Amino acid sequence: MKILAIETSCDETSVAIVEGKGGLKNPSFEILSNIVLSQIKLHAHWGGVVPMMAKREHSKNLINILEKSLRKSSFLISKSEFLISKQIQNSKLRIINKILEREPELLERFLKFMPTIKPPKIDAIAVTVGPGLEPALWVGINFARALAFVWNKPIVAVNHMEGHMAAVLLQNGGISNFQFPISKQITKSNFKNKKQIKFPSIALLVSGGHTELVLIKKWGDYKIIGQTRDDAAGECFDKTARMLELPYPGGPQIAKQAENFKKYPLTFRMGGWTRREMEKEAFNIKLPRPMIDSKDYDFSFSGLKTAVLYMLRDMKERHINIGDFTPMICNEIQQAIVDVLITKTIRAAKEFGAKSIILGGGVAANYELRVQIKKAVARELTKTTALYLPSAKLTTDNAAMIGAAGYLHVINGDFAKSDKLVAKGNLGL
Ligand code: KG4
Ligand code: ZN
Repeated sequence: MKILAIETSCDETSVAIVEGKGGLKNPSFEILSNIVLSQIKLHAHWGGVVPMMAKREHSKNLINILEKSLRKSSFLISKSEFLISKQIQNSKLRIINKILEREPELLERFLKFMPTIKPPKIDAIAVTVGPGLEPALWVGINFARALAFVWNKPIVAVNHMEGHMAAVLLQNGGISNFQFPISKQITKSNFKNKKQIKFPSIALLVSGGHTELVLIKKWGDYKIIGQTRDDAAGECFDKTARMLELPYPGGPQIAKQAENFKKYPLTFRMGGWTRREMEKEAFNIKLPRPMIDSKDYDFSFSGLKTAVLYMLRDMKERHINIGDFTPMICNEIQQAIVDVLITKTIRAAKEFGAKSIILGGGVAANYELRVQIKKAVARELTKTTALYLPSAKLTTDNAAMIGAAGYLHVINGDFAKSDKLVAKGNLGL
């Protein structure tokens, strides 16, 4: 079964085509195409995502991304000149105009492009309906509706966080505890040798807007057992990076700085200091691990953010050049976040007798989180608990993961009514 998927919940415009097999019991996928256009550079200038700008960019770029996605998967079949010259019927035109009335740039491109191609042989269209930025979500939804109308295909509505969980299903054969190196990014999956994910599973979902621990009894049966009470893990990376004058998004920047710190030999000078001198330096570089010992599975990262703020203020007052210490501070911020995430995940896995742990969301691209959770699972859980890490490329926002989650809904016959689709910014699992 082939699904065309659309993702526009934040600052990535993405269209993918995935082929799903195996049903709900043992779903597996082949990614036929997964085109992602990131708006990061645009938003970086403002230090974060600007919703109306994101919406406009999706609107401008979706047709181009669709075309690329169809071409990559060999689904792009142009019509002959004769057929192109046949106009879209007036009655159809009226409906398309109505569906895309709030996306004038998309409408214009849609009307130019669609008559030139034949409907692709897909079975359904999957689209993210939330959580995310509502203006951005709407563009994807209306685009899905217009495509579904012109091609006469059913639509399935997908929760973005379910997409992040389903990303593990896109992995190529032999998912196991040991998938290294992560730098070897996998885009093509194969149907063979695929290990079946065993339930119950604990999913740690960590993105820019969410930090959740989810108990999965089977695909489609999710229970949030803990979540952040304030900032998300990714948000904490982004906000502390900003305090250190590092560009948006902060996660990869902090990770890079921390890696630099780890790489420096102890006696190598960074600024005026050696690493050994820095580590001995008396001021308090130790950051808190908020809620690490709390009995529940909730998180709180705003206290960590505030601790960084105070620490930097203190350093400034003491005329310490913060730039010299940035790699060291980043290392500590990253480690504090990683410690809390791993401790709670392992504890949840023990308590719920998890047979597997799934990682998802942009922060799951973090190398230290990946390496350290792997070690923690090996150290603290029985050998039968498998850890599933999507390749780093599939942890950040992309439409293939929406296609995978969409397939699970198609199998369930869980189709949406086109005119009832709504963007829900804070949609829960
Ligand atoms: O899932 P995602 O792409 O978008 C949302 O749904 O929010 O996650 C984006 C978040 C950002 O906060 C970004 O800083 C963080 O993921 N991120 C990372 C890394 N790559 C992306 N955080 C830590 N280390 C990384 N390597
Ligand atoms: Zn996301």
